[in-house]
Amino acid sequence: MQSSELRQKYLDFFKKNGHKIIPSASLIPENDPTTLFTSAGMQPMIPYLLGESHPLGHKIVDSQKCFRTQDIEEVGDSRHTTFFEMLGNWSLGDYFKKEQISWMFEFLTTGIKLNPENIYVTVFRGKEEVGIPKDEEAVEIWKEQFKKSGIKAEAVDFSEKNGMQGGRIFYYDETKNWWSRAGITQNMPVGEPGGPDSEMFWDFGANLEIHENSEFKSTPCHVNCDCGRFMEIGNNVFMEYIKTEKGFEKLKNKNIDFGGGLERMTAASLNTPDIFAIDVFASVRKKIEELSGKIYGNDPKETKAFRVIMDHLRAATFLIADGAVPSNKDQGYFTRRLIRRAVRYANNVGIDSVFCSAIAEEFIDIYADSYPYLKEKQKEINQEFLKEEEKFKETMEKGLKEFAKLDKISGKDAFDLYQTYGFPIEVTEELAKEKGIEVDLEEFKKELEKHQELSRTASAGMFKGGLADNSEQTTKYHTANHLLLAGLRKVLGDHVFQKGSNITAERLRFDFSHNEKLTSAQINSVENFINDIIKEDLPVSFEEMTIEKARELNAMGVFGSKYGERVKVYTIGEGNNVVSREICGGPHVEHTGVLGIFKIQKEEASSSGVRRIKAILK
Ligand code: ALA
Repeated sequence: MQSSELRQKYLDFFKKNGHKIIPSASLIPENDPTTLFTSAGMQPMIPYLLGESHPLGHKIVDSQKCFRTQDIEEVGDSRHTTFFEMLGNWSLGDYFKKEQISWMFEFLTTGIKLNPENIYVTVFRGKEEVGIPKDEEAVEIWKEQFKKSGIKAEAVDFSEKNGMQGGRIFYYDETKNWWSRAGITQNMPVGEPGGPDSEMFWDFGANLEIHENSEFKSTPCHVNCDCGRFMEIGNNVFMEYIKTEKGFEKLKNKNIDFGGGLERMTAASLNTPDIFAIDVFASVRKKIEELSGKIYGNDPKETKAFRVIMDHLRAATFLIADGAVPSNKDQGYFTRRLIRRAVRYANNVGIDSVFCSAIAEEFIDIYADSYPYLKEKQKEINQEFLKEEEKFKETMEKGLKEFAKLDKISGKDAFDLYQTYGFPIEVTEELAKEKGIEVDLEEFKKELEKHQELSRTASAGMFKGGLADNSEQTTKYHTANHLLLAGLRKVLGDHVFQKGSNITAERLRFDFSHNEKLTSAQINSVENFINDIIKEDLPVSFEEMTIEKARELNAMGVFGSKYGERVKVYTIGEGNNVVSREICGGPHVEHTGVLGIFKIQKEEASSSGVRRIKAILK
C-alpha cells in the first residue's frame, strides 16, 4: 500500500464516523513560545483539549506534519525518522475509550487489513501515589475486540525478565503508558493536560534476524524492546486529567488524542520492518544509489548513511517550506544541522557532488499531491539547499584540515569535530582508521552526554517557562497583537498585513508587510492609537461563523485556511466602535483596560518588504 492511500483511508474512515477533516498545521507553531516545532498532532489542538470550543465541532481528524529534534541521533535504524506524518483523531469531550479502541481495531484489521494475530497492545498499570487507577477498562475493551477475530487476548504485567509470557495486552508503567507533552506525571507543570494511553504494536515475527552483536541477542523480547521485532504503530491517549496545584484533577471533558505514524503504519501494512523501504523514499533511494554507486541494504554502515540522507533531507525540505531556513539559531539551526549531517554522510558513501537540492526536488515531486505548496516554494527551497551545502563544504574542508593536524584524537577533539565542523563520530572514526590512529570513544560519549544534558535542560526550561507563566500575560499580548495590526493599518495604510508573530510572557514580536522604516511620528501614532483603546476599556468578544461571513465582516486572518469552513472571529469594541476584527483561535482578554501601557521597543527590517516590531506591555 502507498502511504498516500493509507492516509486517505484513515481520513475517510473517521469522516464516515462523524469526524471533520482539518489540514495539517505548520511545523513551526504559531503563537506558541513553549516549543520550537510541532512534534505531535495534539500540539495545535491544545486549546481545544483544555476546553475551548473548536469551530468544527467535537470530532476532528487529520494528518499532521511533525518534527522531533530528539530523534536526530536515532536516525539510521529501521524505524526512526525526525520528520513524519502523524495520523490523528480527537474527541473533544465526545466519545471515549470504547469507541476509540473499537474504531482503531476496525480500521487496522478491516480498513488496512492488518492481521490481528500480529497486533499487540499496551495499557497503563496505574499509579496509586497520584490517584490514577490501573486501566482495566481499556483491557476489557481490547479483549472484546480480539475476541471478534477469534483471539483470546491475555493481559499480563510487563517484566523484563520474563518477556512475552503468552500475553497480548501488557501493563507498563508511566514511562511507557502515560502521555503529556512534558512526559511522566511528576514532570508535568500545573495547567498541563495528560492521561493514560494505550499503544498498539505490529509484530514482524519472532524469526526476524537479529544481528550477532546486538545487545538484544540474548534477552527475552517484549513489545517495547528495540530489537526490531515489534514496531509501535499508534497511541490512543485517554486525555482526561490536568495537573493542578493540588495534584491531578479531571479535565472538564474526557478527550481522545490518537496519534499514529503514517510511515510506520504503511510499513506494517507491507510487513516490512524497514520504514525506508516504503513508497515515499523509493525514488530518492534510487537517486542516492545512482549518485554513490552503492546499493541500499548491502552494508550496514552504508545503509545507515542512506537513511540519514533520506530522513534529513526530507525533513529539511519541509522545514524550509514552513519558513525554517538554515541559520544559527532557533528552528533554522536544526535545518542547518540536518543538511550538514546529510552532506557528511553522503561524503561517506562517496557522493561529493552538490546533490541536496536534487534530492529535495524528488521529495517535492513525491509529495506534490498531498502538499502542493511545496511545488510553489520549489525555487526558494532549492536556493536554500544550494547556499547551505556550499557553505558547509567550506567548513568541512576546514574540519578536514583540523583533523589532519591531529596525531591522536581525544574525546574532546572528536566532540569539537562533531560540534564545530559537523563530523558525525562514525566519520571521525573512519578518518582515524585510515590514518591509523585511535579515537577516545568513551570520553567522546561523556562529552556528548554532557552536551545533551545541557540542551535537554535548556529545552525543558523553555517548555516549563512557557507553560508556567499561566498564560495570563501571553493572553494580554495576544490581544495587544490584534491592536497592533489595527494601529499599523490605521497609521500606515491597508497594505499592512500580518506576516508572522511570536509571543512570550515578556514581549510580542510582530512581522508585517511594509517597505520603509517607520518614522518616530508614525511609531508615536501607533502607540497612541493602542493606548487610547486600552483607556477606553473596550470589550473583547468572539463569535463562531463561516469563513464567508468572516470575509463579509472584513475580518483579518492569517490563519484562515487552516480551520476549514467555520472559524472563530474576535472583535475588539462594539456597535459603531469596532477597532479590530480577526479570525483567531484565541485566547484573549475580556476588556482592553487590563492591558496596561503599550510600548514599541524596536522597529527594524525583517526581510525584503517585511518590517518587525518588538513591543511590551508595562
Ligand atoms: N499525543 C500522542 C503521541 O504523540 C498521541 O504519541
